[in-house]
Amino acid sequence: MIDEEDNFSYEQRLVDQGSTDQERAAEAALRPKTLADFIGQDTVKTQLKLVLTAAKERGDAADHVLLAGPPGLGKTTLAMIIAGEMNTSLRLTSGPAISHAGDLAAILSSLQEGDVLFIDEIHRLARPAEEMLYLAMEDFRVDVVVGKGPGATSIPLTLPPFTLVGATTRAGLLPAPLRDRFGFTAHMEPYQPEDLALIVKRSATLLGAKITEEAAGEIARRSRGTPRVANRLLRRVIDFALVNGHDTCDLEAAQATLELFEVDEMGLDRLDRAVLHAIVERFRGGPVGAGTLAVSVGEERETIEEVVEPFLVRAGLLARTQRGRVITPKGYDHLGLAAPQDNALFPLS
Ligand SMILES: Nc1ncnc2c1ncn2[C@@H]1O[C@H](COP(=O)(O)OP(=O)(O)O)[C@@H](O)[C@H]1O
Ligand SMILES: [Mg+2]
Repeated sequence: MIDEEDNFSYEQRLVDQGSTDQERAAEAALRPKTLADFIGQDTVKTQLKLVLTAAKERGDAADHVLLAGPPGLGKTTLAMIIAGEMNTSLRLTSGPAISHAGDLAAILSSLQEGDVLFIDEIHRLARPAEEMLYLAMEDFRVDVVVGKGPGATSIPLTLPPFTLVGATTRAGLLPAPLRDRFGFTAHMEPYQPEDLALIVKRSATLLGAKITEEAAGEIARRSRGTPRVANRLLRRVIDFALVNGHDTCDLEAAQATLELFEVDEMGLDRLDRAVLHAIVERFRGGPVGAGTLAVSVGEERETIEEVVEPFLVRAGLLARTQRGRVITPKGYDHLGLAAPQDNALFPLS
């Protein structure tokens, strides 16, 4: 039992980073293929539509696009949609996968005219590769260095016009020269529950399951604004309905499943609550640094910073101060604890 629980939270963390094979296959099946099928993010969709339509009319490759936002909001999906809408092929790679500038040179020199090159986690690109990318993005050129030391020569190579789509969970970490070379940055925001409910219903249909309006709404409300989380919870609700002989995913099945997987009323999971508890119990409500906090709950700092914190801050349960993270009175309240009377950061008026 304990093992299973641990497996769940481990898988869940990987999933938040978009990993495991099984999860990838499940996600691929649910990805919208066109802009029209992509639910929500209206501003981003309108911006993209303009850029892509204009490029098509001119007969050019679309301008480079940076997709910025937390994990699970649809960045990879949009990259695929861009290639699809432009009728071109997509090359996928990621910042951490390119360890040498030479790796990037090989990818760039194999591009065909109009191709979309998707670099996920572009903020993790090594420095020399990043510099090579500047030239490629701006002048469609790479300098391939041949040989070593004083005898080394660089051979300029012209590239066909291509579209770079970069994705990052940390736009703030991108050096300005790189950020400036994108034609535009799409800022992805957490989804509204109404949009998430539409996504849940669409996914249920694709998975061949029936779901009630209330159940879709319940999953949507407790998915931290994230389609990946909503789709994952939906799959568990479908499992629950199947095993318990419901022919439709109804509210009762949704609520029982969410309880089983320890997703609370506000959509907090075990890790979210562990973070809040650690702040209260080990750091007297804070302030505490992200690194220290990550160690105390046995989690990667990145997960704390990119997944847990932004959600808790949006929910008003956690606040960032110059000296670190502090729990808010609402945070105490959510844990069923009384906020201390002498809280200098949040004086009770
Ligand atoms: N707007 C959307 N409409 C429908 N499904 C979506 C939408 N955005 C994301 N999804 C689904 O959520 C999952 C995660 O999306 P993904 O593009 O992998 O996120 P990211 O790359 O930002 O981490 C995928 O299964 C995708 O189908
Ligand atoms: Mg992705």
